[in-house]
Parts: sequence; structure tokens; C-alpha cells
Amino acid sequence: MNVKSITIKNFRNHSYRTFKFEKGLNVITGPNGVGKTNVVEAIYYLSLGKSFRSQEEDSLIKEGKTSAEIEAVIEEGQISRKIEILITPKGRQVLINNKKALKLSELSKCVNVLLFEPKDVLLFKGSPKNRRDFLDINISKLHNSYLDLITRYEKVLKQRNDALKLDKPDGVLLDTLADMLIDLSKSIIIYRQKFVKDINDILIKLTRALTGANSNIVISYKPYVEVDDNFKTNAKNAFTRALEGDLKKKATSIGVHREDFSIALNEREIGEFGSQGQNRMIALLLKISPYFLVEDKDRHPIIVLDDVMSELDQSHRLKLIQLLTRFEQVFITATRLEVKDAATHYRLNK
Ligand SMILES: Nc1ncnc2c1ncn2[C@@H]1O[C@H](COP(=O)(O)OP(=O)(O)OP(=O)(O)O)[C@@H](O)[C@H]1O
Ligand SMILES: [Mg+2]
Repeated sequence: MNVKSITIKNFRNHSYRTFKFEKGLNVITGPNGVGKTNVVEAIYYLSLGKSFRSQEEDSLIKEGKTSAEIEAVIEEGQISRKIEILITPKGRQVLINNKKALKLSELSKCVNVLLFEPKDVLLFKGSPKNRRDFLDINISKLHNSYLDLITRYEKVLKQRNDALKLDKPDGVLLDTLADMLIDLSKSIIIYRQKFVKDINDILIKLTRALTGANSNIVISYKPYVEVDDNFKTNAKNAFTRALEGDLKKKATSIGVHREDFSIALNEREIGEFGSQGQNRMIALLLKISPYFLVEDKDRHPIIVLDDVMSELDQSHRLKLIQLLTRFEQVFITATRLEVKDAATHYRLNK
């Protein structure tokens, strides 16, 4: 899919601007603070109905104004859709082809964006939550049933944590809820293992294109209990062993909600041993890898890379640009960047 055009009104620092984009590489450059990230933030907003930078919807509305608007035309193969979003302090309203969208999932079905943002450089150093979110968001986009599993798991987990917080926790109830978590977690682990394996195959190819044919990259995902014939018994034992600690901490300490994965480049943990530039490159490649798991070509995600070039040397920059030509549509922001074959280049100035 691709963004044909976007108009933003009173969005962040922009009063009124229309951008026409093409398939291929769309470059947005300009000095710090001119509003480049704000433009790609609006593009990302189309896919999830939320910003990647702030939880506060109000901060999207231009200072002194009462509402912000985003209007865009998105192409999916031969199909073209108009999306209009009105953001007010009271909430947002979404129209798809002039019809009110009742659920946010209607929006994410029309627009799929894979994003690299500057803080992703910390993906392998920071909290496991960010890595789990990467798994959960991307697997959910591929399989509705996974989203359903995760949602049910979260609900039962909350019930068990609430039960642990009672003055006299009910042992039978805790046990029943643990059984439910175990059942749900088995399917979640199977999805995660498959996704990690598929992503690893893609990531190896992308990494070699960028850093050389000898590079090897391995994602290691270790579930809290291996899924085999003894899964249920082993998981049950693990919960029993953890029970005393759970009662003390008043929270469930094991399960898929505590899992993590790590990435090694040439046998060394990227978070610990990788340079800043390597962390940036591998995080970027990982975040755009799910593109190749979408089988329907017309539904390939839009790639948004905010400020990705800093810290990369000239040779890696050129290789990255070359690599990006494999995607249907890419947005890239930078303070300065000249790309010979860019489809569009907007130069913003104060
Ligand atoms: N609600 C708002 N109303 C008015 N201005 C805003 C609002 N929110 C953010 N801004 C302004 O937008 C500007 C930042 O825009 P943005 O982050 O897109 O810059 P940028 O071009 O990406 O800069 P950099 O190169 O530093 O990343 C700041 O000057 C900020 O004050
Ligand atoms: Mg920026």
C-alpha cells in the first residue's frame, strides 16, 4: 500500500500543508525543529489512531487551536481510500470513504505502517517490554487470533494478580487461573516461535545486504517452558515453584508476559557488544522485516524511518538507500540527505 497524499491542518507546528507522495523513496529534510517528524507522525497516526511520540492527544493539536485534522488518500493495489481524522480534546473521529469508522481496527486494516523511530536504537539495551511489544504488535497484525489470545491472557493475568493481592488468597482460584494461563500461553509460544524463526530468516538476508556477506545474525527466543509433550506438567511445576514468591510479591512472576528475546551479531549480543551504529542498523532492519511476511503484495506495509541516517557512515548510508528500493513506499526524514533517485523530496524550512 502507499500514501498518495496527505493534508494536515493545525497538526503540531503545521497550520495547513498538503504533501503529494509517490511509490518509492520519499525524503523529507530540513533543520531541527522544522516539523519533519510531525509529518511522519501524522502518517503513522493513520495506521493506529495514535501517536508514537505522545499519549496526550491534545499535544497533537497546534497551540492555540481547538482541533487538528489529517486527511489522506491511501492506495492498496487498485483500491483507493480516503481517510479523514478529526482530533479534538474530547476525542477523535475517523471517516473512511466518508463513512464513520466505529472501531480502530477498521483503520489499521486500511493502513499498515512499520516505523523506525530514534528511540529504537535502544531496542536491545532497554526494557524487555519493548521487545515483547514488537512481537505482540507484529504477530497481531498478521493473525487476528493472536490478538485474541493475548487479550484473553492479559485478562486472566489481571484476575490472578488481583487474587494474589487479597489478604487471604484463595489457593484453588489461583490454581485454576494458573491452568488457564498455561493453556493460553502454549498457543502464544507457538506463534512467537514461528514468527521469530521467519523473521530471523529475513533479518539474515537484510543484514548481509547492509553489513556484508559474512554477517550472521541469530534471534534467540526462549519460552518460559519448552512446548513439547510434557509442556503442561512442566508449566504446572514452574507455577507451583513460583507460588511462594508470587504470594510475597503479589504478582505472577512467570509466563509469556515475562518473556524476552535477544539478538546476536556474529555470536555477540548486539545490546551489549554492538556499536551505536550497529544497534541502529539492526534495530531498523528488525523493525522493517515484518514487511516480507505480508503475502498479499497490495497490502505490503508503508515504511517510515524517522531520523535513521545519523551515526551511519557514508558506505552504510548508500547501502541502506539501495536496500530501501525493495519496498513499495518508504518515508525518510533527515536534517540533510541527498538521494539521487528519490521519488519525492520535500525540503521544509522555517
Ligand atoms: N502542539 C503543537 N503546537 C505547535 N507547535 C508544536 C506542537 N507540538 C510540537 N510543536 C513544535 O514542533 C517542532 C518539532 O517538530 P519536529 O519534532 O517534527 O521537528 P523535526 O523537524 O523532526 O526536528 P529534528 O530534526 O530535531 O528531529 C518544535 O518546534 C515544537 O515546538
Ligand atoms: Mg525529528
